[in-house]
Amino acid sequence: MSDIIFQRHSIPVVKPDPIPRDTIELLLNAGAQAPNHHRVRPWRFIVLEGTARERLGDIFAQVLSDQHPGLSAEALAKERAKPLRAPLIIAVGVDVPDDPRVVMLENICAAAAAAENILLEAVVQGLAGMWRTGAPANDVRVKQFLGLQPEQPMIAFLYIGYPAVGPKTEVRPSFEDRTVWMSE
Ligand SMILES: Cc1cc2nc3c(=O)[nH]c(=O)nc-3n(C[C@H](O)[C@H](O)[C@H](O)COP(=O)(O)O)c2cc1C
Repeated sequence: MSDIIFQRHSIPVVKPDPIPRDTIELLLNAGAQAPNHHRVRPWRFIVLEGTARERLGDIFAQVLSDQHPGLSAEALAKERAKPLRAPLIIAVGVDVPDDPRVVMLENICAAAAAAENILLEAVVQGLAGMWRTGAPANDVRVKQFLGLQPEQPMIAFLYIGYPAVGPKTEVRPSFEDRTVWMSE
């Protein structure tokens, strides 16, 4: 069993320090090692840094405002600032199959495996990560901004940065109550 798996925890608070390009590429490369049926590599990684995060925040605020008309300026400002919580966001989208052998659910599974690989490699690189989605994640305007088609699922915003708080020591529940053994 890998310590890295046990060390990975969602860390919501990270430092604003930028992450070197080489390190980001290590994360993406880890993502690209995920299993995928028919070798379709159905994940799409969209790397958001710098002011791209502000543009994403503007769209988050627009979407939230449309979903809940009449929200206060304060609530919208909070939504707009959300992508600024980490210096790096890797959004993960999923390709819709065009080969009849390929199943959408399997593509989503493969992209989720890629997202987890990225989070695990982040631990290896001394980074903290957090998988977020939230209400606007699957809005068509968010997808358009990310270069995804409306029918492409957007499964993760991986918020990544150098940890600003200490590592969690929480021990997760055992597998036992989630497992059935079938031996015959
Ligand atoms: C598909 C998916 C979506 C998630 N979306 C959110 C989210 O929008 N906000 C959030 O705070 N955490 C989100 N999380 C993170 C979970 O809250 C977190 O993984 C869970 O609490 C277990 O904690 P751990 O990651 O430290 O093991 C998401 C996780 C997954 C797998």
